[in-house]
Amino acid sequence: MWTSAELQRLMQREISRYRLIVVSNRQPYAFRMEEGRLLGEMPPGGLTAAIDPLMRACGGTWIAQSGGDSDRLAMDGDGRIAVPLDSPAYSLRLLNLTEAENDGFYYGFANEGLWPLCHIAYTEPVFDVQHYEAYKSVNRKFANLVLDEIGDEPAIVLAQDYHLALLPRYIRQVRDDVIIGQFWHIPWPNPDTLRICPWQGELLDGMLGNDLLGFHLSSDCQKFLDAVELNLNAEVDAQYGLVDYQEDLTLVRPFPISVDFDILDAEARSAGVLGEMERLAGELGLDRGRILGLGIDRQDYTKGIPHRLRAVERFLEKWPEYRGRLVFLQAGAASRVNIDSYMQLTIDIEATVNRINERFAEGDWQPILHWPTSLPSETFSALRRLASFCAESSLHDGMNLVAKEYVASRVDEDGVLILSAFAGAAQELSSSIIINPYATEQFADAIHQALTMGDDERRFRMRHMRGIVQSNNIYNWAGRIMMNLMQASTPDHARLPAAGVI
Ligand code: G6P
Repeated sequence: MWTSAELQRLMQREISRYRLIVVSNRQPYAFRMEEGRLLGEMPPGGLTAAIDPLMRACGGTWIAQSGGDSDRLAMDGDGRIAVPLDSPAYSLRLLNLTEAENDGFYYGFANEGLWPLCHIAYTEPVFDVQHYEAYKSVNRKFANLVLDEIGDEPAIVLAQDYHLALLPRYIRQVRDDVIIGQFWHIPWPNPDTLRICPWQGELLDGMLGNDLLGFHLSSDCQKFLDAVELNLNAEVDAQYGLVDYQEDLTLVRPFPISVDFDILDAEARSAGVLGEMERLAGELGLDRGRILGLGIDRQDYTKGIPHRLRAVERFLEKWPEYRGRLVFLQAGAASRVNIDSYMQLTIDIEATVNRINERFAEGDWQPILHWPTSLPSETFSALRRLASFCAESSLHDGMNLVAKEYVASRVDEDGVLILSAFAGAAQELSSSIIINPYATEQFADAIHQALTMGDDERRFRMRHMRGIVQSNNIYNWAGRIMMNLMQASTPDHARLPAAGVI
């Protein structure tokens, strides 16, 4: 069983002579002032939640874009911030971008182009040459900051996600000896879809600057290798997940990401969460016999939120005895609000919530509650503990850590997870009720199955899933990446089965 201490020992043994640098667009802590006090808050999204425990365990420097109102106030004279503020474990170095740079790089190429390209959610990607120019120049800025940070020292760079596809090549062009790994947190498209991107060859070339490239699923690795074979003059060994390109080797491997099970488990048992559960049970009427269904998501069109609401509507049509009893709470902050498709999503969700509530509301009961804000982590934990079922209905998702967080919080081994077949997490969490979010009838039946399932079956399923998340935890993910990275960086690694791959 991997723990934070076990990962620390591995890092000490294997990589203590290297500087460890993580680089991502999103910062793990954004700073703001409240009543004269500086607060560092974690933005919503799976990436920061997953990598922060790893950095807390290993130390090092995390380089990211500055986006908090008061980031400047938090920095020391060298532009660094020791985080977390209350118990510093690693160093954060922030890059400032102009609004125009961010519009082209983040909103434009990354989120209007690559995000819809990589997710099957039927939103057309936008590929604009100016966006791509900004993407290239910002990737170069991040690469330069990484190079500045490591100086002449031996270093390991772990690049994160689709915002930084070109960065590994830019670093490699300057420092051949740096060990570079990248984890792609979202799905990878099939080669036919990838062709929509006018710069697919440059993206692949950029990513092959890595020694190790990780995706969540082996099917994503396979699609990446297919694209390399079709587009580049490279030798691909699909069996070992190895690309030989321009005399450099890149290992391509699956690493399903996870959560810090022990921390979530401990938080769910804490006095703070128990108090919060009591407060919420009163507020939501659970102490008066109401039942809670829960959805938690960053508000994104890939998450299938309207589909989920329509399933709740169909459920109330089919089983009227639950009217006045089931409260479905959809929680989670707005996201990428400058992009039209996200604005449209907000309008659609609001309209759907209002329509369903107007249709079924009785007395003081409304079937759907919508809390489109970020909430304290104790509140999320309490909600997960109180919910009879949690529905994660992504249309397509690299992993979906909310599903794993629900399981890790159910210390009582109760609760039912309803999970989309199109989320990476469905491969591990096979004891959830697996649904197709487009099939409203089947989804409504799954809600009924969740609410009528016997105690023994609920416990059996939840216990099984908790065992999986407990052992495939975030430290296991990080440990396997580090072992594979060390193997990938040795000259004779070719054709050895990679370390720790199951
Ligand atoms: C997904 C992406 C992350 C991203 C997160 C939040 O999980 O894979 O890279 O940070 O969404 O999105 P945002 O655009 O707010 O960073």
